[in-house]
Amino acid sequence: MTKPLRKAVLPVAGLGTRFLPATKAMPKEMLPVVDRPLIQYAIDEAREAGIEEFCLITGRGKDSLIDYFDVAFELDVTLRERNKVEALKALEPSSIEAGSLIAVRQQEPLGLGHAIWCARSFIGDDPFAILLPDDVVKSGTSCLKQLADAYYATGGSVVAVEEVPREHTSRYGILKPGHDDGRMVEITGLVEKPKPEEAPSNLSIIGRYILTPEVMPHLAKLEKGAGGEVQLTDAMAKIIGHVPFHGLRYEGHRFDCGNKSGFLEAQIAFALDRPELADDVRAFLKKYN
Ligand code: G1P
Repeated sequence: MTKPLRKAVLPVAGLGTRFLPATKAMPKEMLPVVDRPLIQYAIDEAREAGIEEFCLITGRGKDSLIDYFDVAFELDVTLRERNKVEALKALEPSSIEAGSLIAVRQQEPLGLGHAIWCARSFIGDDPFAILLPDDVVKSGTSCLKQLADAYYATGGSVVAVEEVPREHTSRYGILKPGHDDGRMVEITGLVEKPKPEEAPSNLSIIGRYILTPEVMPHLAKLEKGAGGEVQLTDAMAKIIGHVPFHGLRYEGHRFDCGNKSGFLEAQIAFALDRPELADDVRAFLKKYN
């Protein structure tokens, strides 16, 4: 029987060096796209997929992420006294049921695989999602919900994939594809950040995963891979052939908010989606053409 998917791990320990000095004293996951921090987009997407329990993998200097999901008592009382209905409504997505969000510190930056291993007690023997908040996905149905549907259909692990230009394969985990129906592609191999000439395809993993717990014993070996880091991709490669494992060409658009141009593009795309902002944004964009 396929176990229900209820848990998500969100690695947020990265230093955010690409956004210095902005991230000198705040986590990059608190940078807003329009008016919501990156972390909120990931939580909303996960909730739409039925996730009820969240584990943030944090590090030093990331405590404001925990505060963000706490009740802001004084703010709440003040807004109520002043009858600021809209502002109170804007706060709603940041409230999380007591006990359903925990944080674990990744004490050393040893790689994404190590970050996920830090969540091993939280994961236990359950399937779990991973959302990398740098990747913000704009889509009709939440990207993770699309993956969850594929997880229930296959009963195995599934990752969101998209085609990238061959010269970019060294930025991503890349699939070796097996049977491909145009949407779902069977994974027969995985390589982390291969050179273009060594890449088995140009199908890249974006920061959305649903994994079955069989991956955990492989992570526990903490073997170093590409870049000298413990790579999630390497541990995932070990379960190929043992559990169903697919890539899903998700419907939607991914913004790489881990780099400045992707982050700026996300601002524009999400702002144009807001009825109260769209006309103004369109008008001022013309000025810069
Ligand atoms: C990580 C993963 C990589 C994946 C990427 C998606 O890399 O290791 O396999 O393709 O996220 O964003 P990072 O961006 O942390 O270098």
